[in-house]
Amino acid sequence: MRLQLRALHSVTVTVSTVPDYTAAGASGFGLRAERSVTLDGMFPVESTRRQGFLPAALLLASSLLWADGLAAQNVLSKALQDRVQENPHTTEADVEAGAKVFRRSCSLCHGADGTGGDGPDLTRGVFRHGSSDAALFRNILTGIPNSGMGGIYQPDKSIWQVVSYVRSLSRGGGEEEVPGDPRRGRLLYMSRGSCSDCHRLDGSGGRIGPDLSDLGWRRAPAHIRASITDPAESVAADYRTVEVRTNDGGVVRGVLRNEDRYSIQLFDEFENLRSFRKTDLAVIDKPEESLMPPLSSFFRGRDLDDLVAYLYSLRPE
Ligand code: HEC
Ligand code: HEC
Repeated sequence: MRLQLRALHSVTVTVSTVPDYTAAGASGFGLRAERSVTLDGMFPVESTRRQGFLPAALLLASSLLWADGLAAQNVLSKALQDRVQENPHTTEADVEAGAKVFRRSCSLCHGADGTGGDGPDLTRGVFRHGSSDAALFRNILTGIPNSGMGGIYQPDKSIWQVVSYVRSLSRGGGEEEVPGDPRRGRLLYMSRGSCSDCHRLDGSGGRIGPDLSDLGWRRAPAHIRASITDPAESVAADYRTVEVRTNDGGVVRGVLRNEDRYSIQLFDEFENLRSFRKTDLAVIDKPEESLMPPLSSFFRGRDLDDLVAYLYSLRPE
């Protein structure tokens, strides 16, 4: 069993993150090229968010792998078998141990302080996929199918400790009260600051920045506010700015998609996926700033409150 698991552990489903560039025109591209993350202690669940078409064989292969991983984890987890309902590891030392695992295996997606990133804000104390100890345990152990959230390969005890840590982050009360009028904020979003040039919302808009359709679930209000007034402060991990200068003097700026020793791929400001051989480039610069311009001069006071209230109200179906 153990051997089999080890073998499983080393399998990675590789989705080519270099799709056919010719398809990357105005209509966008079938597979959103995102880096697939394999983290320490996570078993391999292909973590590329699927958008649109994926070859059926690949889908099948990854779902088989998923099912296998799941079955293997279920066999190993005594807590799941015994249907343990309550967290048996809740001391302060457990919370601390859980914090360590969290930093290593979860913070990349859920943020160093748990307030969200690619994955949702975990500090609200209410969870869409279940808020009981047993539900948290299961979701952390097995991951959530067809999402970026893979399972974690750890003994039951450490998983309970992570559950304790996640609980310790809880601000309580679920939703935060935010000042501002979301309806007015929606009108501002549509009329000022060109947000939809770069962001998708409910299926329309640009693709340079993150999709904002479920922003209020993924992010705490303070983060949303800071993203608008000071985007450079915390640039989302998947949206690092890169600027390259070619040997013949052309400059291309965009969001970094992929990089290896010989080449670099970026999504430019006109939504084209561009690939360069490094030998053709004079300069590769990765400034700390965001491609999103600071918009504090467009939004302040009540306008900013309203816009934040609107964005915070955006939830998944
Ligand atoms: C590769 C990114 C990634 C990593 C790493 C990751 N998560 Fe997640 N997590 C997500 C995403 C994305 C979701 C949302 C899934 C969905 O519903 O679509 C999620 C959902 C969750 C949920 C359910 C939230 C809810 O509202 O029900 C919990 C709890 C959670 N993650 C905890 C963790 C913990 C603890 C770790 C570390 C052991 C971890 N995650 C690692 C991306 C990640
Ligand atoms: C020129 C393109 C561009 C425009 C215009 C733009 N953004 Fe952005 N935005 C980005 C990019 C790229 C990112 C990701 C990098 C970062 O985190 O700063 C981003 C990030 C964000 C985030 C953080 C998302 C997250 O998941 O953490 C929010 C919120 C946001 N933008 C809101 C807005 C709003 C509201 C407007 C209009 C008032 C706007 N943006 C206009 C490109 C843009």
